[in-house]
Amino acid sequence: MPATYPIQDHTYDVVVVGAGGAGLRAVLGSSSAGLRTACLTKVFPTRSHTVAAQGGMSAALGNMSEDRWQWHMFDTIKGSDWLGDQDAIEYLCRNAPAAVYELEHWGVPFSRTEEGKIYQRPFGGMTTEYGEGGAAQRTCAAADRTGHAILHTLYGQCVKHSSEFFIEYFALDLIMDSEGRCRGVIALKMDDGTIHRFRAQTTVLATGGYGRAYFSATSAHTCTGDGGGMVLRAGLPLQDMEFVQFHPSGIYGSGCLITEGARGEGGYLTNSENERFMERYAPHAKDLASRDVVSRAMTIEIREGRGVGRQKDHIHLHLEHIDPAVLHERLPGISESAKIFAGVDITREPIPVLPTVHYNMGGIPTNYHGEVLTKKNGDPDFVVPGLMALGEGACVSVHGANRLGSNSLTDLIVFGRAAGQRCAEILKPGAAQPDLPADSADLALSRLDRFRYASGSTPTAQLRLDMQKVMQSNCAVFRTGDILAEGKELIHKVWAARDDISVSDRSLVWNSDLIETLEFDNLIAQATVTVESALNRTESRGAHAREDFPDRDDGEWMKHTLSWADTEKREVHIDYRPVHSYTLTDDVEYIAPKKRVY
Ligand code: FUM
Repeated sequence: MPATYPIQDHTYDVVVVGAGGAGLRAVLGSSSAGLRTACLTKVFPTRSHTVAAQGGMSAALGNMSEDRWQWHMFDTIKGSDWLGDQDAIEYLCRNAPAAVYELEHWGVPFSRTEEGKIYQRPFGGMTTEYGEGGAAQRTCAAADRTGHAILHTLYGQCVKHSSEFFIEYFALDLIMDSEGRCRGVIALKMDDGTIHRFRAQTTVLATGGYGRAYFSATSAHTCTGDGGGMVLRAGLPLQDMEFVQFHPSGIYGSGCLITEGARGEGGYLTNSENERFMERYAPHAKDLASRDVVSRAMTIEIREGRGVGRQKDHIHLHLEHIDPAVLHERLPGISESAKIFAGVDITREPIPVLPTVHYNMGGIPTNYHGEVLTKKNGDPDFVVPGLMALGEGACVSVHGANRLGSNSLTDLIVFGRAAGQRCAEILKPGAAQPDLPADSADLALSRLDRFRYASGSTPTAQLRLDMQKVMQSNCAVFRTGDILAEGKELIHKVWAARDDISVSDRSLVWNSDLIETLEFDNLIAQATVTVESALNRTESRGAHAREDFPDRDDGEWMKHTLSWADTEKREVHIDYRPVHSYTLTDDVEYIAPKKRVY
């Protein structure tokens, strides 16, 4: 039994955990539909990681030249290496334009064309005419600070609609009842140490990715996959966790993001021989091939001794040939980041870059309404009542094995919007909710106690570093069975060492040692599931590149991985779900797999 903590109770129709783009869009939809909606967030809303999204949001508006959502759909399916669910991809691409126009009307300050339309830039893997035409200009941009613009606008709109925010609340665990329905969430208010129990008809997890399981990531330090951790502890699975995206242009050393929009505006990569090597790997799309292709090419160049710098361990990204006025107008943010983090003036010198962990394609499985799925009684698409998931923490699955750049903001906004609509459709404002089970807070509070009073000998920071090093070296751009098997052993050692964790601060007020330990606990479960899923998938697809199984194997592996973890026994269990090889409507046809070349 956990120590006794006074608990403050709250009841809402909808509780959204997380205030990034997806969370805020869902809060806005749900509260403007008259549902009493609360948003819990561990950081101030406008500090959520969406604020760091740079290059833009894809939508076939056709502002620069002809474009169609069907072409966007084709590109996304091809980008996913045919692991994406085609019904969900259709939903994403056909709803993207409406989602962008709503943002525009709410005040997002998009960059403009001469005629005053939303400016759209080229991005990797975005093409026209089902891959047969040239590059599409489909990515709607607010200079290179698109996420910042969207997040601030959405927060303003939420406040206008009287959504209620619980800021700097750390969600500990879900409340699940004996029938498997989610009934809410338990949270710790970090500034005074009080415990809060939120009861809701629907709980929405919009908690972001778990990029910080790796040593070098473009993700904020807050990206610790807290929703994924809660889902695993609730006995529910995660999906496709082996697919981790490396962004080609993290600044060498710091990992800070240089937007793909830099290549969209004409930037290119070179090796130590000053060669534009992407011409060899992707003769058609070159530097605007999809991210997995570019990151692998860069890694091969470095491995084969053609990296730049004293250690020959990175690559150059050139922008110095571009008109400085264009750089100033369209890429002001990365001009500043390159100066601060690499000491480089981009109008004169190339930026040193390296593939850096950027995005988790895997996450909490959902349908295109945002409803969480599990496999139950033989049904691979069983809806978990009362629980939704959105954004990077979810796996809809529209990105499959590899996400196209600028499809992330689209995912956040389109599915945040869909979740709000679904809540409005299935919930009744103020509907009576049954009493919570007597043990509703036990899981959360016993876990809190376990770490609060942990008196082992290994500091959390040491275990976190050990985990990050294992992930960086044993679950990277290229993988082999041997390296992954070693990774599995090493990551399990780190997980087992959790029993020896030391937390020195026993207080509950602004106890960052305790919060980082709870975050580590979320990360390590997902890191382990990632390595085990990667070891299990004996093919190469999208971002999962197995050197010992270099080909895609549609016969055996055209299926989603589902992974459960017993977080006490530290055991992972793997099963599968079929990929949805059907579309949402008859307006488009299923796109059959073919070889993926750029
Ligand atoms: O490169 C970028 O601006 C990142 C965009 C994305 O991940 O979608």
